[in-house]
Amino acid sequence: MMKLDQIRAAEARLLLSTYDRNPILFVGGQGVYIQDENGTKYLDLLSGIGVNALGYNHPAIVDTIARQSRALIHISNLYYHEGQAELALRLTERTGLDRVFFSNSGTEAWEGALKLTRAYAGLKRSEGVNIGTKFLALDQSFHGRTYGAMSTTYKEKYREPFAPVVPGVEFVRFNDVADLRAKFSSEVCAILVEAIQGEGGIRPLTPEFFAEARKLASSTGALLIVDEIQAGMGRTGKWCAYQHYGIPGAPADRSSSVGWIKPDVTTLAKPLAGGLPLGAVLCTEEVARAIHAGMHGSTFGGGPLACAVANVVIDTMEKEGLLANATAVGDYFQQQLRALAKRHECIVDVRGKGLMIAAELDSADLAKLAVAEMLKRRILINCTSDTVLRFLPPFILERAHVDTAIAALDEIFTAHAAHTAAPSAGGHQHG
Ligand SMILES: Cc1ncc(COP(=O)(O)O)c(C=O)c1O
Repeated sequence: MMKLDQIRAAEARLLLSTYDRNPILFVGGQGVYIQDENGTKYLDLLSGIGVNALGYNHPAIVDTIARQSRALIHISNLYYHEGQAELALRLTERTGLDRVFFSNSGTEAWEGALKLTRAYAGLKRSEGVNIGTKFLALDQSFHGRTYGAMSTTYKEKYREPFAPVVPGVEFVRFNDVADLRAKFSSEVCAILVEAIQGEGGIRPLTPEFFAEARKLASSTGALLIVDEIQAGMGRTGKWCAYQHYGIPGAPADRSSSVGWIKPDVTTLAKPLAGGLPLGAVLCTEEVARAIHAGMHGSTFGGGPLACAVANVVIDTMEKEGLLANATAVGDYFQQQLRALAKRHECIVDVRGKGLMIAAELDSADLAKLAVAEMLKRRILINCTSDTVLRFLPPFILERAHVDTAIAALDEIFTAHAAHTAAPSAGGHQHG
């Protein structure tokens, strides 16, 4: 087996330099802990960027992979296997949508959603409806790295090197209802949102903005598309983050699709298959009219192995009560972070839902330092949008793990405060 140094040297020579990796070689994991080559355990509060919903080495996943890999791993989409219909049933029941297309990743699911939208707008035009081809996306949005997804992603750094990007995308100021109204017209075929922006810094849409987006889209036949790739599949304590948004004036019962704002299209990926690559686009029966055989497809998407695991992930989440756990432990996590913020003024905001949590700091340098210091204390987190510490732990997280993380952050911020106070003291000594 190659050692870390050898791997680093080989990768530096052989791989495209897309990633700035931390110098750790991971070889195994158990529960919420991941283990390096020396047997050192790390508390994983990032779960492979929001993927490993059941943590590492969960017996339900391991057994399913073993069993299914002996039966079938891949067959293409030219034939039937058991997994897709079973998974589509589970997903449609839980999202309130009617039909599914399976992809391999988030960005591919998003591409599918964009293609579906343009096809649907074309269908509506053929039926005499006045509707254009423009997408309205949001400032700070992140939808992926392929061309359509990148073109609807806000940050210049992701788009600019690859220009020209896909035309027909306009960005609306985040949560700015007036800007949304001003930019919306019959030219628009879809409004694209994340109910809670992930990469953009764990920022939830306001109920007013979400409701207005739904209202405007419905008024012309445009679609409301909600990207749930990071926030969906139980991370926020509900199957989809949009299920936290009640329809203004509707009864408080949100157990059915009556009570919350329903998108026309949604996308899922990250935790969907517990670590195996799998994405999904879901849409209403109405929108599904736009797609016919041959218009869209994938060689690998929705393969037997990934679907079998996704089915078992959903069943396990329900059996182990992990949505309720995400809510309870997530609330506790935020409460502890807020208590920490009272002691450390460098924490300027704490926000999120369930186990999708942010602690925003007052400096990008400090955020970077905090991630590095957490790593030294064997805890994995990351930083997004420069100043935001992001926590996307596995859904099996327990309060004791939160306590460990909070104690580490407390130590780091205390040391930092002492250190930043020190230079002036030092200055006096020298003066
Ligand atoms: C909201 C959202 N959409 C899309 C993507 C792209 O997913 P993937 O990296 O699987 O292509 C991500 C990934 O971070 C995401 O957070």
